[in-house]
Amino acid sequence: MRLGGMGMAPELMVLDSEAEVAMAVARRLAATVAQMPTAVLGLATGGTPMPIYKALIALAAEKRLSFRMVRSFNLDEYVGLSASHPASFAHFMRENLFDHIDIDLARARVPNGVAADLGAEAASYERAIAEAGGIGLQILGIGANGHIGFNEPGSAFNSRTRVVDLAEATRQANSSYFPAGESVPGQALTMGIGTILNAREIVLAATGAHKAPAIAATLAGPITIDCPASALRLHARVTIICDRAAAAQLP
Ligand code: PGA
Repeated sequence: MRLGGMGMAPELMVLDSEAEVAMAVARRLAATVAQMPTAVLGLATGGTPMPIYKALIALAAEKRLSFRMVRSFNLDEYVGLSASHPASFAHFMRENLFDHIDIDLARARVPNGVAADLGAEAASYERAIAEAGGIGLQILGIGANGHIGFNEPGSAFNSRTRVVDLAEATRQANSSYFPAGESVPGQALTMGIGTILNAREIVLAATGAHKAPAIAATLAGPITIDCPASALRLHARVTIICDRAAAAQLP
C-alpha cells in the first residue's frame, strides 16, 4: 500500500504481530547480506530491533550466512557512556547481535560517546561512512515523538552526525535500560537526518500502540521537522513495516 500526498510515499507493510515484523526486517537484512557479502548496513538499537536481531541470528545460522565482510554503522550512542557501560549502544549491539554472528568488530562501528573531541568523532564517522561507499540498507526504529536515530523534533533534514540534546520524553522512554539510580545522559552523538537519507534503502520498523501517533504523523501528516520521520517521504526507497497496533491511527 502507498499513502501520503506530497513526497514519494514509502511502501507500507502492516503485519499481524511484533514477531512477524521482526522476521520481515530480519529477512531483508539477511537477503541483503546474502546478495552482497560486503554490504554496508546502518543499524539501530532499542526495544524494536531486539527481536529483529534475534530473528537475524537464527536466519544467519540456518542459512550459514557470513557477516565477515559486512561493514556496519550504528545510528547513535549516548555521550559519556563507554562501550563497556551496560546501557551503551555499543554494549547493546554486542549482546544482541555482534557476539552471535561472525561480524568483524573492527568493521562494526558505533559512534564513540566518550571521544575527547566529539566534533572530531562526528566528522570522522561521516568520513568513514563515505569511505565505505555509503550505507546500503539502513534499519530504523521510531520514537513516540517521531524521532529517527536521536534526531529529535526540530532537527534539520540536512543535519549530519553531531552531538544533540535528548528530549525529556526520550530520556524517560529509555530509562528502563539503565541500572536503578542511574540517570539517562542528556546528550547523544547521532547520525543526522541528512546522513540517514543518504542510505540507498531504508527500512523503518514500528511495533505497539504507543507508536501509532508517530506512524500516522510520519505517513499522513505534513512533511515537517516537527516529525523527523516525515523526512523519509523525501526518499525514494523506504519501507515502513509495522504491526497492527502501530498502524492503528493511519487514515
Ligand atoms: P524503541 O526505540 O525501539 O526502544 O521503541 C525506538 C527509537 O527510539 O528510535
